[in-house]
Amino acid sequence: MISPATIQQIQSRIDIVDVVGNFVRLRKRGGNYLGLCPFHNEKTPSFTVSPTKEIYKCFGCGKSGNSISFIMEHEKYSYVEALKWLAHRYNIEIEETDVNPEQKQRLLLHESLFAINNFAKNYFSDQLFNTEEGNDVALSYLKHRGFREEIIKKFNIGFNPSENSAFANAAIKAQYSKENLVSAGLIAERNGKIYDSYRGRIIFPIHNQSGKILGFGARLIGKNDKAPKYINTPENEIYVKGKILYGIYFARQAIDKADECLLVEGYTDVISLHQSGIENVVASGGTALTPDQLRLIKKFTNNLTIIYDGDSAGIKAALRGLDLALEEGLDVKLLLIPDNEDPDSYVNKVGAAKFSDFIKENKKDFVLFQLEVMLQEAGNDISKKSAVVNHIAATLAKLNKVEDFIKRQDYVRKISQTLNIEEEGLNDLVNKLLREKVNKVLPPVGEKLFSGEPSAVPEVEEEVAISESDKFEFAVLRALIEFGLKEWEGETVADHIFKEIEDNELEFGNENNLKVYNLYREWYLNGSKPDASGFLYYDDREISSHVVQILDLQVEISPNWKDHYDGKIFTREDLYKEEVRYALIYLKLRKVKSLIRVNQQEMQKAETEEQIIILKTHQLLKVLEIELTAELGGVIFK
Ligand code: UTP
Ligand code: MN
Repeated sequence: MISPATIQQIQSRIDIVDVVGNFVRLRKRGGNYLGLCPFHNEKTPSFTVSPTKEIYKCFGCGKSGNSISFIMEHEKYSYVEALKWLAHRYNIEIEETDVNPEQKQRLLLHESLFAINNFAKNYFSDQLFNTEEGNDVALSYLKHRGFREEIIKKFNIGFNPSENSAFANAAIKAQYSKENLVSAGLIAERNGKIYDSYRGRIIFPIHNQSGKILGFGARLIGKNDKAPKYINTPENEIYVKGKILYGIYFARQAIDKADECLLVEGYTDVISLHQSGIENVVASGGTALTPDQLRLIKKFTNNLTIIYDGDSAGIKAALRGLDLALEEGLDVKLLLIPDNEDPDSYVNKVGAAKFSDFIKENKKDFVLFQLEVMLQEAGNDISKKSAVVNHIAATLAKLNKVEDFIKRQDYVRKISQTLNIEEEGLNDLVNKLLREKVNKVLPPVGEKLFSGEPSAVPEVEEEVAISESDKFEFAVLRALIEFGLKEWEGETVADHIFKEIEDNELEFGNENNLKVYNLYREWYLNGSKPDASGFLYYDDREISSHVVQILDLQVEISPNWKDHYDGKIFTREDLYKEEVRYALIYLKLRKVKSLIRVNQQEMQKAETEEQIIILKTHQLLKVLEIELTAELGGVIFK
């Protein structure tokens, strides 16, 4: 943890014009500064910075905040990372508190691995450009493949000489420990001798999202059937394969601007596309996407377009990631590159403009693509076809977030047309699965009321329930912060939410959630008009970053939605009433379930006369539960 004293020092030294000026060219206009907004594409400047108020606001896209939130947003940093960036910028020494010896040890190891990787990156790059072997063997190969010097330098591509231990000697001479060099995967020890791991290979450094080197991919030059094409850094404290997206450091701003992330398989695909000007692209290394990788993408955009070659084994891997991506709330499109090409060779063949057009015209919705593939496989077999229906319904039930409602309805409509089945039937099936899911997530209710078995809930399940529970609370708070001042049957959404929460005695289990709720209420009742920015500037950093987290989960319907779906286009704004209603139902349902559970525990202790009352209560609660669950499945547009 960064100490409060350091935070205060940073805050007092920050100059917002200077901070923003690192990324945006600002010109003075009256008391303010004006520039082109870095968060959306514009030709005339509407991005304003106020040095006196210490804030920025874009009148084009509405983004606003302070220096810290600017760095968080622009660099996609966490709160702590942003503070570190600012501390570095203003030469403020960071004082950390609460670091126990074990954590300290781990931090030290992280630091030394990063330092070694940085040394190695520089060494390999120097070898590529400034040695005879590097030039003749490696650089010429790269250039022959069409990579220009500019892009080679940008991605810090390098070369490890073919001599047995050239790098190892240089690194040990520079005082790096042998042990750590082995952990970093750069050298290996065999029979008392030290070898470079990547002898004679081209080196692709792998950057994390803030530009530090996590590890390397080392490709042999040309073809060789005896050795693996790539050797990658082994898993260590900083290189965790499942968390890495190659290219994210160079792609992050382009992804933000395009509001789309392209996912390819290989290092060279990323670099070639970049060179041709398509920069919103990252690579997964050809394996199935992990939840961590999906979450990383989601920090930047909700639109993921997977680009694989048509007959690649990667398609299967990608399809495996689909359900996860849906659960994470991503909009996934798929594009297959034809004729045995991969994105690297294809963009070199047709050029950037045609490649971009090709993406736009040929990307397919992933769910519908999956349906197509399954239907082809099923052919005319009736039982296989009904298996397809079940499978697709299960897929749609993954779209279970409050804000997924419209998306789900659209799919139901499209898919029932494709399958030539009743829309209502498919809808019922999906809703049934959704309900089962809700029941699983919320604290389970035992049916054996009189069995006398302890109704204790297994601990693991409790844990799942709590974090999911947090999400229900988030949904209510998000609706409150974003739509609180909008109209609700003659009053405001905020009035309605307050009333619902009080009338039903709904509670916030998460302490920070409760704080945010009380703060909003206090501000609102004082007559000020609370919104997200009020929280962003709030003194208590824990609360302000908690609110960032709450708003972060936001899923917006992508602008290109209407290209693919011909029905009426709803936005979250249009549907705020549905969102509010839905969020409250989830919270009420949670309450009812927990009442049922408590009631049930009472039952076991109760005397016979009391049992009748408790049983009545149980029946009432069950009726409520059923009603609420039904409402969840059947929220209707007005
Ligand atoms: P590719 O074989 O498509 O490689 O593997 P590539 O990156 O396009 O390289 P070129 O164009 O043939 O030079 C895709 C990705 O799979 C991983 C790497 O991350 C690679 O970029 N891979 C592939 C390995 O990790 N090891 C291998 O032996 C092969
Ligand atoms: Mn390739």
